[in-house]
Amino acid sequence: MRIVTIVGARPQFIKCAPLSRELRREHTEVLVHTGQHYDYGMSDVFFADLAIPEPDYNLGAGSGPQGMQTGEILARVEDVLLKEEPDLAIVFGDTNSTLAGALAAAKLHIPVAHVEAGLRSFDRTMPEEINRVVADHVADLLFCPTETAVRNLAHEGIRNGVFLVGDVMVDALAYNRGIAAERSRVLQRFGLQPGNYLVLTVHRPANTDSRENMEAILAALGDTGLPVLFPVHPRTRKMLESYGLRDRLPANVLATGPLGYLDMLEAMARAAKILTDSGGVQKEAYLLGVPCITLRDTTEWVETVQDGWNVLVGADRERIADAVRTFSPAKERSMIFGEVGASGRIVEALRILM
Ligand code: UD1
Ligand code: UDP
Repeated sequence: MRIVTIVGARPQFIKCAPLSRELRREHTEVLVHTGQHYDYGMSDVFFADLAIPEPDYNLGAGSGPQGMQTGEILARVEDVLLKEEPDLAIVFGDTNSTLAGALAAAKLHIPVAHVEAGLRSFDRTMPEEINRVVADHVADLLFCPTETAVRNLAHEGIRNGVFLVGDVMVDALAYNRGIAAERSRVLQRFGLQPGNYLVLTVHRPANTDSRENMEAILAALGDTGLPVLFPVHPRTRKMLESYGLRDRLPANVLATGPLGYLDMLEAMARAAKILTDSGGVQKEAYLLGVPCITLRDTTEWVETVQDGWNVLVGADRERIADAVRTFSPAKERSMIFGEVGASGRIVEALRILM
């Protein structure tokens, strides 16, 4: 088959790496980068770290308000789909590139496969929740990472074309964990001792766009006294600058630009705890067996909380500081994201279209 894969944001590069490798064994893949993320540290570094093939198209859509960014991507992806006439379009996750890619293909009657289908936070104030719901409702093939995702789709009446395949991020992590341990010097670079520091990521608008939330999170981290490695997302950097907080970070918070995937994996794997509002980072913390403190009140990855390895604390200074002190998972982890091999299982499932 001729397959157009549409990616555009950091987590999508990571998700497409293992799938692209499997797809290219039996199909022709045309890789489309929407250009939603474009800085070296948000885009190119992942193509290098994960050996992702050079995109066939970079659409340069760039940043903008929700509707404008989605509209730009929609129009530009449509042009590519008209030219390439693929048998299938694949989209990942829940970004504006996901929504625009899925819509563009569906309107041209090109079958759509959604990888990481069925996730729900049940919080429609998140742009991602709108993106997920719409993408799932126009998709023909829905590749779910968890049983919860399959159930969420069933509740919305989506039962056909649904496959429980596990999570492609398990494949990315399994493939790269050893490479990261061998190549990354991130601990030396920041003077960190294994097991004696925290990793922090924050990029959700609900946190970044609230001065109060950002102040509470940073103050809580300051209270811990532990070294905190803080790779700062560009959205977060901009907002910290606008609040005048960028130069007033607590002394133990080591802020740096976004990390490449291998450095990030190594930094997370050796951390005492991880604090985040990222979806992917919650999952990776679980897979690496590092306790996760989530700076949100909801999560799509409910199994990580049910399993006792993730705790939701919002942006509350006391709850964050308390979790850093006391949160300690008691249970063994189970295989909530499935065995390695989700990418292969997706390619297997695609045979029904041939
Ligand atoms: C997007 C996704 C989010 C995902 C995140 C992954 C949507 C609605 N949101 O959020 O689901 O978790 O990517 O990281 O699609 N910027 C740069 N350089 C870049 C990219 C962005 O400076 O390479 C800045 C721009 O000022 C931009 C802002 O970051 O306005 C936000 O970027 P955008 O892609 O709109 O959303 P994210 O917050 O990255
Ligand atoms: N990540 C990274 N460098 C960083 C921060 C995150 O490589 O500085 C990786 C992280 O390991 C995970 C993915 O990016 O694989 C998560 O992406 P992000 O948090 O941007 O988006 P989300 O998963 O919340 O959509």
